[in-house]
Amino acid sequence: MHLGSYGVVFKGSKKDSKDLDENGKQKQYAVKRIFPTINAAFILIEMLILKLLNGENNVTDLICGYRLEGQVSLVFKYQKSKPFLTYLTTFNLDDIRKYMLALLKAVSHISNYGVIHRDIKPSNFLYDPVTHTGLLIDFGLSEIQVDQNGRPVKLADNETVKKIADLQKKLKIKNRTGTKGYMPPEALLNYQQQSSAVDVWACGVIFLSFLAQRHPIFSLNNSSKIKNFTISNLIPFVCLFGQNNIKEIAFKLGYGCLIPEEMQKERIEWKEICKIHDDKAFDLLNRMLELDHSKRIKPEEALKHPFFTQNYQNQSRNNEQSAERYQLQPYQQQQQTSSNQMHLEQYNPNPFAANC
Ligand SMILES: Nc1ncnc2c1ncn2[C@@H]1O[C@H](COP(=O)(O)OP(=O)(O)O)[C@@H](O)[C@H]1O
Ligand SMILES: [Mg+2]
Repeated sequence: MHLGSYGVVFKGSKKDSKDLDENGKQKQYAVKRIFPTINAAFILIEMLILKLLNGENNVTDLICGYRLEGQVSLVFKYQKSKPFLTYLTTFNLDDIRKYMLALLKAVSHISNYGVIHRDIKPSNFLYDPVTHTGLLIDFGLSEIQVDQNGRPVKLADNETVKKIADLQKKLKIKNRTGTKGYMPPEALLNYQQQSSAVDVWACGVIFLSFLAQRHPIFSLNNSSKIKNFTISNLIPFVCLFGQNNIKEIAFKLGYGCLIPEEMQKERIEWKEICKIHDDKAFDLLNRMLELDHSKRIKPEEALKHPFFTQNYQNQSRNNEQSAERYQLQPYQQQQQTSSNQMHLEQYNPNPFAANC
């Protein structure tokens, strides 16, 4: 199904013909065969984190792992899904609410265990728009949040948590780089005490994608081999948040920055770039895309936000939920491939001026 930097993912089933699902069909699995070049301890961290999370609350369930001819494979339950671009522009506010709720449920669950996913993006949240079910996958960059002394900040007495924290310390794993277009200021500038706020920001970027019907939102060079924590990473944010706010957050994180005078000074209103307008959605978006990580909304708080808790009528277009609605058109297939591989794009001073 997929060839990534970590390994290859196959779809498969057991040879046992009695391994059937509730509809009497052969059960399907996703098998992630990890390249032998990947350090075994890294794979162990991913497995231990998955074990800790126990496949609950829309988090992928690790069924088993095995080693064959020196290659480790991880076996997961197969999740039916559609590519993000097939529903990005067709989702109404109700659909977006269901998606975000499913995603934040997973983020809240992992944050309760002190786990930071670090690579939340549409291709790592497998979503079926027909059944409105989603699954958070790919814990290859995930970490247990630790304090300055390497001690877990949550469930410090749990044996699995302790084991993961020890491995992280041994391997000097802390604040690994995810996909830059989904990273918040504190991650782009390598602030040391990162938390689940990193994941909340990434969810905010996806939320903005839906409301603005644009993808990607922030186009940042992800191919660089060196970590490249420089202030230039924050430049695409200036178009949305304004240079005054960017200077302020950079300063808080220990950087001074010079931004060309002609660039926008103040933040823009969400309604200027969003095609779907809703006050509660904009309020939640503000709180998720809060530049200061210490003020950013927590995952469990986000789940209680009026955007989710208010009783909604079907106020938007009354869309028929048919599978055909989510067929990928040829031009979208092209976009999907290129958006998965972030590439260097020339800096566009106002990326929101042009239509998607
Ligand atoms: N449980 C699953 N069910 C269905 N497809 C999956 C599952 N896990 C992974 N995949 C497919 O494999 C792709 C890559 O998996 P992922 O774990 O994200 O690996 P990588 O580290 O290479 O990104 C996913 O985008 C998805 O298409
Ligand atoms: Mg992935």
